[in-house]
Formats: sequence, structure tokens, C-alpha cells
Amino acid sequence: MKLVVGNLKMNILSPVERERYLGLFKKELGRKKLEKTEIVLCPPPIHLESFFKTLGKKVRIGALNIFWERQGSFTGEVSPAMVKNFGGEYVVLGHSERRRYFCENDQDVSLKIVAALKEGLSPILCVGDKEQGLKSASVVVSQLKNCLDKVNNMRIENVVICYEPVWAISSNNPGRLPTSNDVMSARLTIKKFLVEKYGAKTADKVRIIYGGSVDAKNVREICVDSGMDGALVGRESLEPYEFVKIAEIINR
Ligand code: PGA
Repeated sequence: MKLVVGNLKMNILSPVERERYLGLFKKELGRKKLEKTEIVLCPPPIHLESFFKTLGKKVRIGALNIFWERQGSFTGEVSPAMVKNFGGEYVVLGHSERRRYFCENDQDVSLKIVAALKEGLSPILCVGDKEQGLKSASVVVSQLKNCLDKVNNMRIENVVICYEPVWAISSNNPGRLPTSNDVMSARLTIKKFLVEKYGAKTADKVRIIYGGSVDAKNVREICVDSGMDGALVGRESLEPYEFVKIAEIINR
């Protein structure tokens, strides 16, 4: 299955806005059957339950962060069990905005991945270089090595890897995009790492997606032509019409 993930970030500020978004999304999806593509929507945690109740039959729901402990005195954190019990199946981890604004490092991400897997959630692990250039492959490999250090062969197929160059995220650098070749070569770097660590057969089961300024106009070139298994979509996931269009192109 291909995968299209909506990263709603810190948006949708009120119940009214949420109802509007859910209504539009339902309408766009309508009776469309995207047989080869799984759609995942990741809203802020306060919306998780209502997203699940409204759209849970058509799309899968995910969170945008969790803590690595399950319960207790961790003021302000969200437990992996909460995400699971309120309908979540996925969780985005290691996003560059969490690394940048909340000082998350690879060790934190590694603990969170273990906690997610233990709870039966599928982590979507974001890795990506800050600057375009020669060292980018080594940055990605070191993030993979550190973040997956506690993930064994039995569990890795539940992890999704998202290659998201930080410089290509729409809010960082409007208009800067990798070429299809850049993305293909990042895919190969990730694949090689997975094959070496887990063997070819297991590595083949791990989905590798691309994130960073994806829209309906560029998705074919950067996500499909590069051989990626899908996309992580930020800005355009706020527009259900555009988001579903992206999913349809990936589904073809
Ligand atoms: P963008 O965001 O699609 O707006 O670039 C992607 C992301 O940060 O996950």
C-alpha cells in the first residue's frame, strides 16, 4: 500500500474550524476509492478523537508526537496509549520542527519509537538533511542509525521512514525543491541502510515516503517518479481538495 500522510501541524484552532475542515474532507473523499493508497491524517491531539469518529472509516488517524512513558507525572505530555485508545494508528516522530523548537534529539526519538511500537502504533520516522549538499547522505544515515538502534527485525516493518529535507519544507524555504533524482538517491541511501541492518526481505516491507512542499503539481515528479511509496504533506493537507488530489495521483 502507498501512503499519504497529512501533517496538520499546529492548525485548526476552534471547533467551528474543525467542523468545516472535516465536512470538506468528507465531501472530497466522497465515494472515491483509493485502493492502493492509505490516507493518514495527523491533527493536534485535542482533535484526535473527533477526527477518528468522523473520518475513521475512510482514513487512518495519527498523532504528531508522543512521550516515551505510558502514564504518570509528565505534565503536558501525550501518552502512546492515549493515542491508541482514542483511535490513532500512526505517530509522526523526529519531525525537524520538534528537533528545532523542542530540542528533540535522536536518543529521544529512539525512545519514542520503542514506546510507539510497544503500544501498537506505527511510527513515521522523519529524517533529513538541514542543508542540500554532499554531506546529506551521512546525516540521514546517522539519524537512521541512532533512531532505529532499538528496533529489531520483528518490528521494523511497522515503521515508515520519511525523507524530509529540512530545507525543502514550505515554511522554511518557499519554492526550494529537490529534484526527482535527489529524492531517488535519498531513497537508495535509506534502502541500503535498511538492507544492511535488516536484510533485503525485511527491508522491502518498510515504506519510504517523501515530505517537503508536496503539492498536486509536483507530486508526480518528486514522489512518484523517484520511486517513493508516498508523501508527508504539510501545507496542502489544510486544503482537503488539494490533499485528496495528491492522494489520487499517488494512487494511480
Ligand atoms: P510542507 O510540510 O508540506 O508544508 O512543506 C511538510 C512537513 O513539514 O511535514
